[in-house]
Amino acid sequence: MPRQAYVNGRYRPHGDAAVHIEDRGYQFADGVYEVVPVYNGILVDEDLHLDRLDRSLRELRIEAPMSRASMKLVARELMRRNRLSNGFLYMQVTRGVAPRDHKFPKNATPSLVMTTRQMKPHSAAMLNNGLKVITVPDERWARCDIKSVSLLPNILGKQAAVDAGADDAWQVDREGQVTEGTSNNAWIVTEGNQVVTRNANNAILNGITRITLLELIKAEGYELVERSFSVEEAKAAREAFLTSSTSFVLPITQIDDQPVGNGHPGILTGKLRQHYLDYMQSLGKTA
Ligand code: PDD
Repeated sequence: MPRQAYVNGRYRPHGDAAVHIEDRGYQFADGVYEVVPVYNGILVDEDLHLDRLDRSLRELRIEAPMSRASMKLVARELMRRNRLSNGFLYMQVTRGVAPRDHKFPKNATPSLVMTTRQMKPHSAAMLNNGLKVITVPDERWARCDIKSVSLLPNILGKQAAVDAGADDAWQVDREGQVTEGTSNNAWIVTEGNQVVTRNANNAILNGITRITLLELIKAEGYELVERSFSVEEAKAAREAFLTSSTSFVLPITQIDDQPVGNGHPGILTGKLRQHYLDYMQSLGKTA
């Protein structure tokens, strides 16, 4: 059976699945999304993702398309149809279909699309050599805490990285402080072995991987601080890494032309990646 997608109440072959041309997601990027990792058949941190989806919807005054329980049922049915054990579930909600007009439509029904994607293992090269990031000005709006489908600066940043032969771009605010990657959160480890990541406010998306890793770091007793850090501090750091639902924890070994630390993936970064993998592995197992 070909891969299927869920679109507004129907399961359709992925290749034919479509929304209307007057969907406000297409017209205005008037929508939000979530990406949930699926590990050994379990939706990792599902409720945290659904909490963030609810928050994004609330902030944009878009109605929830269905109850949380129904969202969970649709997600599981799609995973079953697509035989998804390890991969990602994408959920996208827009304000719905309405004649083009900037103001909110009166009677639009929110559109809900869910799709899945199989996981490809992270390459040995990526894990052994680490990633290169470039730095770019953060040109986004002032509500980066909302997981909106409006991602132009993010894709331009990512393409700038690809054009420069790098893996991603760290976005930098007007004060010279790193906000986050184009689809991930940014972290460093200082010379004093302190783990640092930017505090979550409107300037970044509060990653679910970030939230879970913060808990794991606290539980392991590593030194931790949530604060912003400059590009210079990052270049002088002992280690750097990124987190996201699709990357988990991945080492960064070069920022612009500067190797980070000794130019090899950091030891603490490796430990944190393992803690995160162990955490995912532990889900669904009874104590
Ligand atoms: N991106 N910051 C941004 C701008 C992101 O787009 C993402 C996630 C993150 C990390 O959030 P989380 O840990 O919840 O995945 C941070 C997803 C993976 C994407 O757009 O595909």
